[in-house]
Amino acid sequence: MNAFNLITGATGGLGGEFATLLAEKGEPLILTGRSEEKLLALKERLLTVRDGLVIETIACDLCDSADRMALLQKVKNLCATYSLPLYRLVNVAGADIQKALMKYTEEKICFQCRVNFESAVSLSRGAIELGAKEILNVSSVSGIYPMPYFAIYSATKGALTSFSLSLREEMRGAGVRVTAILPGAIPTREDVKEQIKGQGLWGKIAAKSPRFVAEKALKAVAKNKGKTVIGFANKCMNISTKLIPLPLMLKFIAWRWGRISKDAF
Ligand SMILES: NC(=O)c1ccc[n+]([C@@H]2O[C@H](COP(=O)([O-])OP(=O)(O)OC[C@H]3O[C@@H](n4cnc5c(N)ncnc54)[C@H](OP(=O)(O)O)[C@@H]3O)[C@@H](O)[C@H]2O)c1
Repeated sequence: MNAFNLITGATGGLGGEFATLLAEKGEPLILTGRSEEKLLALKERLLTVRDGLVIETIACDLCDSADRMALLQKVKNLCATYSLPLYRLVNVAGADIQKALMKYTEEKICFQCRVNFESAVSLSRGAIELGAKEILNVSSVSGIYPMPYFAIYSATKGALTSFSLSLREEMRGAGVRVTAILPGAIPTREDVKEQIKGQGLWGKIAAKSPRFVAEKALKAVAKNKGKTVIGFANKCMNISTKLIPLPLMLKFIAWRWGRISKDAF
């Protein structure tokens, strides 16, 4: 399709895979992340996937409202320069801090909430205003349940799924598709790979490659699905855990996740 895809978190493991898949299809890209250097390296790599493809990069701190507005203005300008519409927004950027709330600083609370939720809400509105027809929000199975010791991540991902479903309804009849995808573990960064290893057999069964997740996500939005849990094992887990009483689930999650402590910025 000859229209722009705006991908946030493009410099990360999953965002990079979305960018690669869409580059293979020859779709024009606007890639964003915080690091200009990583964005330029990604662009260079993608041009080897598809020579001559229109790829633009815009560095942006999505936690900063003014920076987000500047990003949307630049996207608007690029659409005018290339005479291409904005078709798809893929909200991938996110951070997965894992620790007890009392170990957070105010700064980290804001960072986690803004990058995981506020930025996706803000860019969804901005992208639809610019004419986007597809909004793909990367949520997580971790948002299905409250998760002690992963509380803010879990709450922001739960909120993102809820927001996507509401927005989808608001956009019904307006020709805009909104889809939330709920992946389980994806071996992107080294620390995530280590965590998956630590999960033993479950990790082997449930973890899905960035490629698998990105492909399923693009199919889900093409089929106009509201929300999709990615992977058979995660779908089974999602259904079966509904049979477990919530207080019991919370105790189990607190026991399991209370042993992990991980930061991000
Ligand atoms: N990996 C998993 O197991 C897993 C499972 C379920 C859901 N998810 C979700 O999938 C998404 C991608 O995960 P990933 O593993 O690919 O993560 P990742 O490799 O750590 O990439 C995170 C991306 O977010 C960007 N980012 C972070 N803070 C930002 C900010 N303030 N402003 C702009 N960009 C910012 C980073 O940009 P820079 O690199 O330029 O800083 C990077 O491109 C996240 O939303 C995550 O919650 C991941």
